[in-house]
This record gives sequence, C-alpha cells and structure tokens, in this order.
Amino acid sequence: MAPKPFVLRMRRELGGQIEQPLWPDGMTCRTLDKADSKAAHAVLAAGFWEGGGGAPQYRQWWSRLRKDSEFDPTLFFLAVDREGVCGLAQCWTSNFVKDLAVHPRVRRIGVGRALMLTVFHAFDKRGAAFVDLKVREENLNAQRLYHDLGMRIVGREPG
Ligand SMILES: CC(C)(COP(=O)(O)OP(=O)(O)OC[C@H]1O[C@@H](n2cnc3c(N)ncnc32)[C@H](O)[C@@H]1OP(=O)(O)O)[C@@H](O)C(=O)NCCC(=O)NCCS
Repeated sequence: MAPKPFVLRMRRELGGQIEQPLWPDGMTCRTLDKADSKAAHAVLAAGFWEGGGGAPQYRQWWSRLRKDSEFDPTLFFLAVDREGVCGLAQCWTSNFVKDLAVHPRVRRIGVGRALMLTVFHAFDKRGAAFVDLKVREENLNAQRLYHDLGMRIVGREPG
C-alpha cells in the first residue's frame, strides 16, 4: 500500500512590513463576482487538482463554497489578464488560504507570489495576527514559494 500523504500547515505572521504585490504587465487583481465562478472553477480544474484525484464538478463546488459559513467573496482574489481569470487565492474568514492556483499558461511569472502578498495585505487590514494554509508534503514547488514569502511550517498531519 502506498504511504499515506501528509500535509504541512504553514504560517505567515503579520503586523510587520509586507511587500507590495507586483503584477505582470497587463494583469490586474480583483475580488470575486458571482459571474466569475465558472472561470474560477476552470482555473482550479486546470491547476490545483492536477494529479490530486480530480476536481469536484462545478455545481457541487460552487454550491458548497457559497454555503460555507467561512466563505467571503471579498477574500476570494482573482488574477485577470486579457484572456480572463488566470489565477486565484480563495481564503476562509479564519485567516486561512483554502486554495491557491495559477493557470499553467501564466506560471513562473510571479502571479502566485502577487496573489499571496495580496492575501497578506487583506488579512493584515482585518487585524489578523497571521495567515495559515495547508500544503501537501510532496508539493515542493508551492513550498518554495511559501518559504520565500516568509511562511514557516507550524504543523504536519495526515492529508
Ligand atoms: C504553486 C503555484 C500556485 C505557483 O504559482 P506561480 O504563479 O507559478 O508562482 P510564481 O511565479 O509566483 O513563483 C514563485 C516561486 O515559487 C517557486 N516555484 C513555483 N513553481 C515552481 C516550479 N514549477 N518549479 C520550481 N519552483 C517553483 C519558485 O521559488 C518561484 O520563484 P522563481 O520563479 O523566482 O524561481 C502554481 O504552480 C500552481 O497553481 N500549482 C498547482 C496548484 C498548487 O500546487 N497550489 C498550491 C497548493 S497549497
């Protein structure tokens, strides 16, 4: 039997200086509008769930998300370029980044970093002391990004 995967909980303390997000040319950031939900789901499907057992269907994902007591569309950040939504960071109100995904067509140009910095600023403004997320132990690329952003591992649990 394959070993059970583990996830790491990573944390960024807030309160100090936070770098300003730098967006690639032609890209902007805004929060989720109801009309964006399908495009956001497409980015998740293309990016986040790759190799992770398949994406939930759009209807199921959107209906569960909207009903969650920790859902807040003003904490759902989208990166948008002329082709549409190309990245997202969806956060729960409990200072937690639930999903971060960047479409493969715009990877490694700083979109993930800019989204995370936007998240840190948003929670800092809300008076949060820290921001947490969970990342699979084998996802070293994402961990590299989080370490660069000043996040540290604060826990490890079966995924
Ligand atoms: C992880 C992810 C969000 C990064 O998005 P991105 O926009 O490509 O990231 P950035 O361009 O901001 O990269 C910043 C840093 O992350 C690290 N990184 C990201 N992707 C990497 C890769 N494929 N290989 C090595 N390092 C990588 C590097 O340190 C990179 O800095 P560098 O380009 O100067 O070397 C994106 O690859 C993705 O959507 N992956 C699938 C979903 C996922 O794993 N989400 C995170 C779940 S917790």
